[in-house]
Amino acid sequence: MFEIYKAINNQLNEALDTAFAKEALAAKEAGESLDPQLMRASKPEFGDFQVNGALTLAKKIKQPPRHIAETIIRQLEKNSRFNDLCYPPKLAGPGFINLTIKNESLIQELSVRLKDKHLGVPRVTNSYTEKKLKPIIVDFSSPNIAKEMHVGHLRSTIIGDSIARVLSFRGYEVLRLNHVGDWGTQFGMLITYLKLVIPEALTTANLINIGDLVDFYRKAKKQFDDDEYFQQCSREEVVRLQQGNKESLEAWRLLCEQSRQEFQKIYDRLDIKLCERGESFYNPFLMDVVTDLKELGLLVEDEGAQCVFLEGITGKEGKALPLIVQKSDGGFNYATTDLAAIRYRLRFPPNGDGAGRIIYVTDSGQANHFSSVFQVAKRAEWIPEKCKLEHVPFGLVQGEDGKKLKTRSGETVRLKDLLDEAIERAKVDIEKRLHEENREESQEFIDHVSSTIGIGAVKYADLSQNRTTNYQFSFDRMLSLQGNTAPYLLYALVRIAGINRKGGDFDIFKKPLQFSKPQEWILIRELLKFDDVILVVEEELLPNRLCSYLFELSQTFNRFYDQIPVLKAQEPARSSRLALCQLTRDVLKKGLDLLGISTLERM
Ligand code: ARG
Repeated sequence: MFEIYKAINNQLNEALDTAFAKEALAAKEAGESLDPQLMRASKPEFGDFQVNGALTLAKKIKQPPRHIAETIIRQLEKNSRFNDLCYPPKLAGPGFINLTIKNESLIQELSVRLKDKHLGVPRVTNSYTEKKLKPIIVDFSSPNIAKEMHVGHLRSTIIGDSIARVLSFRGYEVLRLNHVGDWGTQFGMLITYLKLVIPEALTTANLINIGDLVDFYRKAKKQFDDDEYFQQCSREEVVRLQQGNKESLEAWRLLCEQSRQEFQKIYDRLDIKLCERGESFYNPFLMDVVTDLKELGLLVEDEGAQCVFLEGITGKEGKALPLIVQKSDGGFNYATTDLAAIRYRLRFPPNGDGAGRIIYVTDSGQANHFSSVFQVAKRAEWIPEKCKLEHVPFGLVQGEDGKKLKTRSGETVRLKDLLDEAIERAKVDIEKRLHEENREESQEFIDHVSSTIGIGAVKYADLSQNRTTNYQFSFDRMLSLQGNTAPYLLYALVRIAGINRKGGDFDIFKKPLQFSKPQEWILIRELLKFDDVILVVEEELLPNRLCSYLFELSQTFNRFYDQIPVLKAQEPARSSRLALCQLTRDVLKKGLDLLGISTLERM
């Protein structure tokens, strides 16, 4: 109800400015304004909105709060647009004003949304600013070559995808960047090791699979730590690679391709689109980072390394911590790459992306890395005005025992196995249910439903948690038909599809809408919150807000449907209630789509 909120807020401001003209002027001169503090009512019995401002304004205006509230109410009631929108305001407690939207206004808003493909969510448009809106970059997933993609990357992939979907829905141009770890010392190690044990793998495509590659990587790392000569060779190999030696580059390319194919399989199963732009892309810009920081006077040499000493980030003895941008051996690191990436992403095309907002989705363990890198970029004045860099951190994935997620035999869980198991378990549930209900369904149906539920459940379980906390992975919980789960939401949609099949025609609402039951009004109010929720997710980048809303909406719908006849009702109640079913379906479907979850007609 963002539009309604805005209208009421304007009317309130007008009322304040008129009733307290002197104080409003004084506030304006002090660079402030009289804030009515309009917010959603904290309890349904307070109506739809409450105005809390009178209490804080009491000091400024030097009148008792109740008196201020009364004056505002009198002023509001003179405004015919306000009277069209709301019932007479109610004064409550020490000076609160409760506002309730008129039924006619709700019905009007409902009719608009029934016809609106965007379901009432405002679109950002270029015409707002007359300038072209800058694109938003979502940097997510970002696994590392030659290493297995782990559950942390899965979280980043699922959360990042949902954030990107919400922003696109709002009308932004979104760049979904996969900042793959495809450059750096690990390749020196890996190539040196493969040269020793299986040199053909460096010239022939698909000779080794990802499992082997991960294993080779582990062994290479061990030898690197134990063997000085091997270390030396690895370093030389990195230099060859960085200098563009043809053979080394070819070997590197093959290794990347091998991993890429493996990552793609996961993305395909999750239906996630990403644009790969790995660390290697920024290689040509790394030296500029160092040169420019030096020119700006920000660089300090410390034990042979080039670094920037961070402000406000101190180590053990209270000394400022350095951010190393060039190691003593001349090499660059993760931070240098991120600094180069920031510059490229903010710089205008054709030499950059011209982004206005960059969102990084990684585990909270990287919080220090990002705050350091952002600080250096800021001090170097590489961040244009109004551009925002945001780290979107998330907690660890834990097993049901609260410890790091492991297989029964104690190994790290492979994503492929995890998704397989979710689908397999969903299938067992469905087969059991079909048996109980005496239903016959084709194998194709069972496969489709179990894969939709299995993948949906994994995504939803992750997204419905506040991402900043650690998250306990439980197949039983995520696949349950009860509670805040994907199957519960999918089932609400299946119910609505059933109403539709049983003769409740949607999409033909010629009759006027008419409602009489409290359950109907509750559902209407819930439906009209969709736009507010999307705006909050855009602002806070917390998809769990959307999940909670969809869960609440499903519960409200189920209560409505259990307590009130729809198909058996008389007109105009029948078609009015069907209209509520239709909008519930559309909002749920869109909401799930924004979470990256596909829906079902039957299950
Ligand atoms: N590859 C990194 C990892 O696996 C994540 C990269 C995140 N993005 C970035 N621009 N640093 O931890």
